[in-house]
Amino acid sequence: MQYQNDLFLRTLNKEAVERPPVWLMRQAGRILPQYRAIRTKLSGFVELVQTPQLAAEVTIQPVDELGVDAAIIFSDILVIPEAMGLPYELIEKKGPFFPNTIKTATDVNKLIEGQNAAEQLDYVYDAIEATVKGLDGRVPLIGFAGAPWTILSYMIEGQGSKTFSKAKAFLYKEPVLAHQLLEMITNTTIAYLKAKIRAGVAAVQVFDSWAGILSPAQFQSFALPYLRRIEQAIEGTPVILFARGAHHSLKELANGNNALGIDWTLNRTNVRQTVGSEVVLQGNLDPCFLYSNEESIRIETTNMLNELGPRHIANLGHGVYPDTPLQNVKTFVNTVKDFRYSTN
Ligand code: CP3
Repeated sequence: MQYQNDLFLRTLNKEAVERPPVWLMRQAGRILPQYRAIRTKLSGFVELVQTPQLAAEVTIQPVDELGVDAAIIFSDILVIPEAMGLPYELIEKKGPFFPNTIKTATDVNKLIEGQNAAEQLDYVYDAIEATVKGLDGRVPLIGFAGAPWTILSYMIEGQGSKTFSKAKAFLYKEPVLAHQLLEMITNTTIAYLKAKIRAGVAAVQVFDSWAGILSPAQFQSFALPYLRRIEQAIEGTPVILFARGAHHSLKELANGNNALGIDWTLNRTNVRQTVGSEVVLQGNLDPCFLYSNEESIRIETTNMLNELGPRHIANLGHGVYPDTPLQNVKTFVNTVKDFRYSTN
């Protein structure tokens, strides 16, 4: 597929580009009044996720309004537990909630996995097809999934948590069962991402949002091998791995052909030195920086571009917060779009 703006894909393919591409994690939904207008007409978030035409509309809004160089499909990482047999709800002002959780081997053995589970998610593939049609080749569309560890943690906890201590304890108490479940989530995620690619996404991002609460040893055993399996299974389509807080494993995370998403707590110069000049990095402005003023945002964004150098996709270090002033988001995007790499 040809895109009018293919800067994002050229960067992922390590081609020389005139400036870094820019998009924001969680740009679809959350910040735009146009999103809230659609959202309030429906019974809730899950209905929006499951209505392809509206999901497509919400996906395209930030491309129209902000002029970002890529779209990300409006959906959620929690559709995977749902497809495997654990439906979720989204409780206003509280977040995700699972009426049923995983406690025992019997619970794990009741789940469906792999292709059979991925087949439950036609509404996502339909939303992707509708989005690709609506984008009409303007920019590429990103597909995504949660990393196996992050998905497992929701399946065990049943909701968000400050410590994720139940999920971490499960790894220590039931390592064999944990690996079995991680394996099942991985098989499902691979089938799901491949189906998304068939439906039209041009790159995929894997969110390991809770990587940072694992000890380095737990991360090596229960997270990294499954990320690697996913990255290796998705041949021919660029993969961005975003393992928030996994500072101890940057080298290993960048050891495949994938791009590496980095959070805002990392020192950019150190990361660049650690992974080398050829690895494509994505990130990492502190999302809270967008609450400051225009001039500061311009300066800090330019610092970020200079510190990370070429092979960079400009983004925040985590998702944009819902109450971020829209004008400041635009200043961030436009600062990147006005930037040029020096050509000496
Ligand atoms: O990037 C995008 O804009 C695409 C859409 C997207 C959503 N969720 C929509 C959403 C993506 C990529 C996600 C990923 C996701 N979902 C993650 C990983 C990324 C991260 O931030 O670390 C996680 C951990 C979830 C689970 C989840 N879904 C939570 C914790 C919540 C509630 C709090 C919140 O707003 O993030 C959701 C709901 C959710 N997912 C909303 C949106 C737009 C808010 C729903 C609403 O009230 O309209």
